[in-house]
Amino acid sequence: MSTGRDIQGRIYRAGLFGTRPTVPTSYDELEAAAQRRMSAEAWSYVYGGAGLQSTVRANREALDRVRLVPRYLVDVEQRDLSVDLLGRRLSSPLLLAPIGVLEMAHPDAEYAVARAARELDVPMVISTQGSVAMEETARTLGATPRLFQLYWSRDEDVVRSFVQRAESIGADAIVVTLDTHLLGWRTRDLDLGYLPFARAEGIAQYTSDPAFRALVEGRVATPAQGRGASADAGEVRPSLRQIPAALRALSSMRRHWPEAAPGSGSGSGSGRRRVGLGDPRPRAAVETFLDVFSRSDLTWADLARLREMTRLPIMVKGVQHRGDARLALEHGVDGLVVSNHGGRQVDGAIGSLEALPGVVEEVDGRVPVLFDSGIRGGADVVKALALGARAVLVGRPWVYGLALAGEAGVRAVLEHLLAELDLTLGLVGVRTAADLGPHVLAGAA
Ligand SMILES: Cc1cc2nc3c(=O)[nH]c(=O)nc-3n(C[C@H](O)[C@H](O)[C@H](O)COP(=O)(O)O)c2cc1C
Repeated sequence: MSTGRDIQGRIYRAGLFGTRPTVPTSYDELEAAAQRRMSAEAWSYVYGGAGLQSTVRANREALDRVRLVPRYLVDVEQRDLSVDLLGRRLSSPLLLAPIGVLEMAHPDAEYAVARAARELDVPMVISTQGSVAMEETARTLGATPRLFQLYWSRDEDVVRSFVQRAESIGADAIVVTLDTHLLGWRTRDLDLGYLPFARAEGIAQYTSDPAFRALVEGRVATPAQGRGASADAGEVRPSLRQIPAALRALSSMRRHWPEAAPGSGSGSGSGRRRVGLGDPRPRAAVETFLDVFSRSDLTWADLARLREMTRLPIMVKGVQHRGDARLALEHGVDGLVVSNHGGRQVDGAIGSLEALPGVVEEVDGRVPVLFDSGIRGGADVVKALALGARAVLVGRPWVYGLALAGEAGVRAVLEHLLAELDLTLGLVGVRTAADLGPHVLAGAA
């Protein structure tokens, strides 16, 4: 793996020939460049948080409040970023956070991300709301470690099927996201009237799933049955003026039904089979998804059912209270992710980093604690590890890289993060990521 100096050197050498990084190293520039590139809907969906966006701000404020205190004349010539996680040695403490609907950022979506992850050996947490079926993403990842993030569906056959598929793609763990059993009040998306899933974006794990497809076929066969309240309550008949938008939405649904995907079906010369205009399944798939996406009646005791479904380690993502860390341990989880979903769920909440020390203390080394929400640079990773995180999940930054330059953009963002992490580690006087601890933080003795 390239060191921070290698990456720095490459950028400066290119500068001698007048070439500047196409993907900015400075986070503000990265964000601004991505905003210029992305549609208003995609930008709002990725950048936005819940309500007044105050948790998004709190995530950064919490990271900014923690300060590093460098030490010098320590031999840090050979640095080592590797960490242990779930019986594996990872080459760095970075993982790609599960991010849904990547097609909004770039048409290559997970294909581009998985290729970049593979090149840099950065594990990927594959999202339930992927734009690409998990088997395809896994194939693209090659031997790169992958975990599967689970949104616990209202339909247990779908849950079971997702878990089995995660096993068969070689996932190292199931990461159950706790914080999104309801969708937060996301004002930016609401003001655009934009929910990607309603256009069948980000539901590829479902439309590729036999259990989910059986639900869709059942719905089509017996339209009155099996519907929750959500499906038809929002039924709107378009006025003349609204027809073009409604047709675009319908066409998106048809495009996302797997039989319409390139390379699917047999004997179609172009590799793309037309899904007939009268085929009710694409629309039924969206309605079925909206019905089964999530449930709010689960309790800690339900984890036992998931445990029966799989021998894979189970992690929970979204822990913010040490009491929940205690309950998670009591219910036998194998790891925790301290996260507030990047401030997208509860407005007015604490910054995620504020939750980390209490959770780490509660867990007391029994299982690994991972961290996300607000990681923007290598120094942030150093801070989270110093406070006891084993590794961090990186979210929005690489999505912006994806929007700017596809695979190369994801790769550039990750390389920049790894470079800054490596350099910061050395500059604070610590040789290995595993040696980071509170001694590098202000306030330590
Ligand atoms: C556009 C977007 C989509 C996301 N989709 C998912 C998802 O499908 N599953 C999940 O568990 N978390 C999802 N998250 C949350 C991330 O996994 C992670 O917790 C969050 O991005 C961390 O915040 P940060 O990006 O500000 O650092 C999503 C976040 C964003 C920004």
